[in-house]
Amino acid sequence: MKTLENKVVFISGGADGIGRAVVERFLAEGACVTVLDLNQEKLEALQAQYPETVRTLCGDVTSYADNAQAVALTLDAFGRLDSFVGNAAVFDYFAPLSRLKPENLAESFDKLFHVNVLGYLNGVKASLEALKASQGNIILTVSNSGFYPGGGGVLYVTSKHAVVGLIKQLAYELAPEIRVNGVSPGATDTEMKSVEGVSSKAQPLNHIQGFHEKAADAVPLKRIAKASDHAALYVLLASNEQSPMTTGCVIHSDGGWVAR
Ligand SMILES: NC(=O)c1ccc[n+]([C@@H]2O[C@H](COP(=O)([O-])OP(=O)(O)OC[C@H]3O[C@@H](n4cnc5c(N)ncnc54)[C@H](O)[C@@H]3O)[C@@H](O)[C@H]2O)c1
Repeated sequence: MKTLENKVVFISGGADGIGRAVVERFLAEGACVTVLDLNQEKLEALQAQYPETVRTLCGDVTSYADNAQAVALTLDAFGRLDSFVGNAAVFDYFAPLSRLKPENLAESFDKLFHVNVLGYLNGVKASLEALKASQGNIILTVSNSGFYPGGGGVLYVTSKHAVVGLIKQLAYELAPEIRVNGVSPGATDTEMKSVEGVSSKAQPLNHIQGFHEKAADAVPLKRIAKASDHAALYVLLASNEQSPMTTGCVIHSDGGWVAR
């Protein structure tokens, strides 16, 4: 019996990067998966690869309606929902406050927090009734930036600290029916995009010159992660058999920031 046999998961940002690796791992463990993402091309490729066990919706996590539509699609296709994984997020190109232009500050803040924080809240809210019915669980992707400074700029780091707050508060509010936990990756080789307006030079994360070397050098394990390095932790937290007493917890998968 696979760990997530007959389980159904809704994940945001599952078309690429860490989310995509988590989708692959959930499918391998027997789950069916719905993915909400902005990247139409990558969603089509995913749907074509897994026509039976995957459903996709091209939409924006900042829209409650898009999240609700993804849940409706899930229930229609698979009849239940056992886990919501909030994962879609945007970066800030390591921009310190001193480099943010005053005229862009409020707009960049709003855009980044809408995706990284409101996006998770929208997904949780839209999934609530279905998760209560299944006694399900929620997993939110954090980051080493949820605990330590220097792994992003001021907007990204504060948004990920807010995600840690979300996990604690929601674990408290939604108990005992629904467990709420997080996985906290460190630097990972993905094309994570930055929010507009933080830098005229902003480019995907793993295109930044020296990113791989600096990221590896920053942690005791001395290497940058692959997206798939984190995936088993999501399976552990999604399984009510394997982590039944774990809620309000974040598992670190960051090469050892705490041990620096
Ligand atoms: N890459 C890293 O170094 C790193 C480190 C720590 C934490 N994380 C976290 O991992 C998660 C995944 O990031 P990633 O590195 O895989 O990035 P990624 O860009 O490869 O994947 C993110 C996915 O989210 C989607 N997305 C972005 N904005 C969206 C929106 N508004 N609506 C719907 N979909 C949207 C993108 O299209 C993409 O498919 C994020 O929460 C990120 O903060 C990443």
